Amino acid sequence: MRSFIIEGGRRLEGEIRASGAKNAILPIMAATLLTREECVIHDVPDLLDVGTMADILTGLGAKVRFGRDGAGRRRYVRISANSLTGCEVSAELMGDMRSSIVVMGPLLARLGKARVSRPGGCSLGPRPINFHLRGFETLGTRIRESHGFVDAETPGLVGREITLDFPSVTTTENLIMAAIHADGRTVIRNAAREPEVVDLQNFLIAMGGRVDGAGSDTVTVTGGKRLHGAEHTVIPDRIEIGTYLAAAAITSGDVRVTNVVPQHLDAVTAKLREAGVALEQGNDHIRVLPGTRLKPVDVKTMPYPGYPTDLGPPVMSMMCFAEGTSLITENIFEKRFAHAEELSRMGGSVEVLSRLAVVRGTGRLSGARVRAPDLRAGAALVLAGLGADGTTTVDHAHHIERGYEHMDDKLGHLGAFVRKVEN
Ligand code: EPU
Repeated sequence: MRSFIIEGGRRLEGEIRASGAKNAILPIMAATLLTREECVIHDVPDLLDVGTMADILTGLGAKVRFGRDGAGRRRYVRISANSLTGCEVSAELMGDMRSSIVVMGPLLARLGKARVSRPGGCSLGPRPINFHLRGFETLGTRIRESHGFVDAETPGLVGREITLDFPSVTTTENLIMAAIHADGRTVIRNAAREPEVVDLQNFLIAMGGRVDGAGSDTVTVTGGKRLHGAEHTVIPDRIEIGTYLAAAAITSGDVRVTNVVPQHLDAVTAKLREAGVALEQGNDHIRVLPGTRLKPVDVKTMPYPGYPTDLGPPVMSMMCFAEGTSLITENIFEKRFAHAEELSRMGGSVEVLSRLAVVRGTGRLSGARVRAPDLRAGAALVLAGLGADGTTTVDHAHHIERGYEHMDDKLGHLGAFVRKVEN
């Protein structure tokens, strides 16, 4: 087991560069299955989930090679899916990462078949895939389920109109990728508007695909075009950025995050300002100015452009350091507050009533041994440790490494004391 040990109470100061976005790179890596030619993707974060996606693609017969380029020695990946040897994602890889489902659309488009194990629930609650499967069926796929596996097969996908029940991010991405080789035009309504969907659209356009409308609630895909190899740089990770801004605010620090698209974080910076955080914003950076005194705020998570669910846990930790009551309402997942109990070990007071968390902030927390229940909640516990008196140990830190690139090093660079240990 891996743990992070944090000595709290140090002000964060300095500059860090945001990594490429986890939730953009995963569907983009899956999209490389759509062509026989090589694709090169730059600014690839060093994350466990990226490794899992590489294993999935390798298992399907693709060649995946990571390397480093440029003065900053940033990571790139070269993927060549010239000849695919399989169409199945193992139960093990599917269990490691539920978003593995995003290979289904490209496999149906390329091979006309896909076999994945049905993902179970996770600490965020049930994670159904019914929107994905219903969408594939509408495009002309036959779905069969048995013994925990989903088998999908199509004699040829056909463009159709699809209205999603909810603007699901990976469903929108999966259907765009499936539709890219379909016969005719597909229109996806009530589509997710997240920047990661736009990044996927830009990659597909670079590959010669005809996709339009990502970033709005209607995406149109004109199918039938043969895709070629492409080179692409992935967008910055807005969730990582929001996490470091919250960390800076908790420690009354002075932190500048570069490689930022500020408008991707509009809902987040608005909430930080409401919480008393002074911010400076440029074309590609956001800086938390020193001397924050946190005030309680109410937060409701929403699909983009609303406040992101993935930044619900960090804001909960932040609100423990404000004096007064904050309400956090989670509107995307059933269980997003798994770390509330862990915060209480640190002296926090968080009452969870289904999808509502009542945070009674006292302005301080004290160090304790806690356990990361999932990725974002794990990062939130690290943030709590940065502001707490004394030492905090966050166990099960592998969850954090699924989605935060070298978090211990980045925080260390800002003056925090964070040590990674293997128990
Ligand atoms: N939903 C269904 N049926 C489906 C698909 C989704 O009922 O077939 C429901 C979900 O249960 C949830 C809601 O729809 O209640 C929205 O889920 P969505 O499908 O949008 O989530 P996702 O695509 O599985 C992506 C991110 C998540 C992020 C959510 C919401 C990726 C790889 N993952 O998940 O990221 O929280 O969108 O923004 O893009 C994370 O990075 O920690 C993470 C969980």
